[in-house]
Amino acid sequence: MRPVCRFPGAKVTRMCGIIGYVGPRAAQEVVVSGLRRMEYRGYDSAGVAVVVDGVIEYRKKAGKITNLDAEIVANPMPEATIGIGHTRWATHGGPTDYNAHPHVSDNGRIALIHNGIIENFAGLRAELQAGGVSFRSETDSEVAAQLLGREVAQGTDLADALRAVVNRLKGAFTLVAMDAQEPERLVAARRNSPLVVGVGEGENFVASDVAAFIEFTRNAIELGQDQLVDVTPTSITVTDFAGNPAESHPFEVTWDLSAAEKSGYDWFMRKEIYEQPQAVADTLLGRFNEDGSLKLDELHIPEAELRSIDKIIIVACGTAYYAGMVAKYAIEHWTRIACEVEIASEFRYRDPIITRTTLVVTLSQSGETADTLMAIRHAREQHAKVIAICNTNGATIPRESDAVIYTHAGPEIGVASTKGFLTQVAACYLLGLYLAQVREAKYGDEIAAIMAELASTPPLIQRVLDGLEPIKQLAAKYINQQSVLFLGRHVGYPVALEGALKLKEIAYLHAEGFPAGELKHGPIALVDEGIPVFVVVPPQGRDQLHDKVISNIQEVRARGAFTIVLAEEDDEEVTPYADVIFRLPKVSTLMQPLVATVPLQMFACELASLKGYDVDQPRNLAKSVTVE
Ligand code: AGP
Repeated sequence: MRPVCRFPGAKVTRMCGIIGYVGPRAAQEVVVSGLRRMEYRGYDSAGVAVVVDGVIEYRKKAGKITNLDAEIVANPMPEATIGIGHTRWATHGGPTDYNAHPHVSDNGRIALIHNGIIENFAGLRAELQAGGVSFRSETDSEVAAQLLGREVAQGTDLADALRAVVNRLKGAFTLVAMDAQEPERLVAARRNSPLVVGVGEGENFVASDVAAFIEFTRNAIELGQDQLVDVTPTSITVTDFAGNPAESHPFEVTWDLSAAEKSGYDWFMRKEIYEQPQAVADTLLGRFNEDGSLKLDELHIPEAELRSIDKIIIVACGTAYYAGMVAKYAIEHWTRIACEVEIASEFRYRDPIITRTTLVVTLSQSGETADTLMAIRHAREQHAKVIAICNTNGATIPRESDAVIYTHAGPEIGVASTKGFLTQVAACYLLGLYLAQVREAKYGDEIAAIMAELASTPPLIQRVLDGLEPIKQLAAKYINQQSVLFLGRHVGYPVALEGALKLKEIAYLHAEGFPAGELKHGPIALVDEGIPVFVVVPPQGRDQLHDKVISNIQEVRARGAFTIVLAEEDDEEVTPYADVIFRLPKVSTLMQPLVATVPLQMFACELASLKGYDVDQPRNLAKSVTVE
């Protein structure tokens, strides 16, 4: 009977984790430990394959890696020096044992793993079946294994065979394969999906993420689009899909293994919340001169071009989009250039007005978000300049942009972004001030004063972190809460949206963020007796919106809301209207998101944890969404 695809035409995929190893160590152990380090990417099955005595041995199981471990204990794998492994997020074919990767070709020659979607798999599958090939899964990926098996069986060299296969595939893919008859050789290829090579001594690795091999080496090579790599324990050869030698980009991983572990915290998310002072400080490090002027050495765009920009469009998804919303206020204020913010998945479909003098700024923690990547490609086709603000060295988005400003937040493992948000705001501020400097939109001493305030925020974020106990206690009160509202104005509005997103993502409860002034135009109807309403209050005195937000608090309180107010120290005007008040350090309005977001992150983390949910890997979500 023809297998039934449970998710026909599924278009949304998550980022599978891929690792391959060749060298003297016990391959199966190296591969499974690498898979564990990539768990944060989200997956629903896992598998490993090795080659021993000309035979491919594999184990694969639906569910978490612990299921795979149990399978290996029940059916031990022989010692091997070459292996590949995969964590899969189901797209074509349900999350079952037989749909898990690696896929082994019908003739037993090839084991292959795949990340992405092969769009033309149905035709290829029919062709292979007509040629007598039997399929053992419902996946799109298996066609690549079968095609490769057929090629090598005809005597084609393994790398040439993979080249022939990738030239027949449409869609997004990273493929890693090994041949039962070549126990010292891995081949891998990438198009629209990530792949890095880990360079060891007498051993080498390929993986979707450096986290998979950081335990063994910090030396890595990033592969470019449409490149193929041929790896043995002592050699790495990179070519394009036509077989021509291709340029590869070696880099050194600057963070270590302990950075990717929880360091005693119960959740990566909690650890990452506490890392924010350091993450912001690292993002600002080395980016300004002693006189307070900015230097963005990595921005290889001539100043004349930056001076000619007449419009900025910030493009991003989710939390990064909210960071972009914050940045818009600052960039317009400092540079006087019109700045739009756009959700990446909407961007290219509305035919945006882009010219040679438009600057597109993309924000992405992972650097692999497909919606953002497609927006970049669209913008560059229209001859716009693209600057990426990104946290992941060697990722696709920075590689495909004209310039990149890295946020040095270190690895963000929790699916819910926290330090990603704060560092994106900080990096956008650096860019905004740099543009103001280049265009002389602000005097040098004004820029130096703003930079000094930005540089003073890490200890203030630390002070917020040191005072989070009341927020944690508050979370305990809302374990059975159905709905929570968040209000803010100006930069407080995206902070409210971010607070609501965190609750939706990890505590699975209905949460909405609104501009406080918009309440009376509809959303206030949601307010009923006892509903918790978080309100971000702008700085007192120095901000014209302060009094208006206090009126908004009174409006919701009069209708029964329980008001949880985030207001700066000494703001006593707000005290009579707050059921609970959380004090923020005194900062200017534009710096407030860097301190006000933190308690909202912690509220969500604590509530989700108390509800017994998996804070780091919430249901239906993964860290990077690599297909549109
Ligand atoms: C944040 O908590 C989310 N997991 C999500 O919205 C994320 O910010 C978005 O998918 C963008 O990811 P990126 O920064 O890696 O591009």
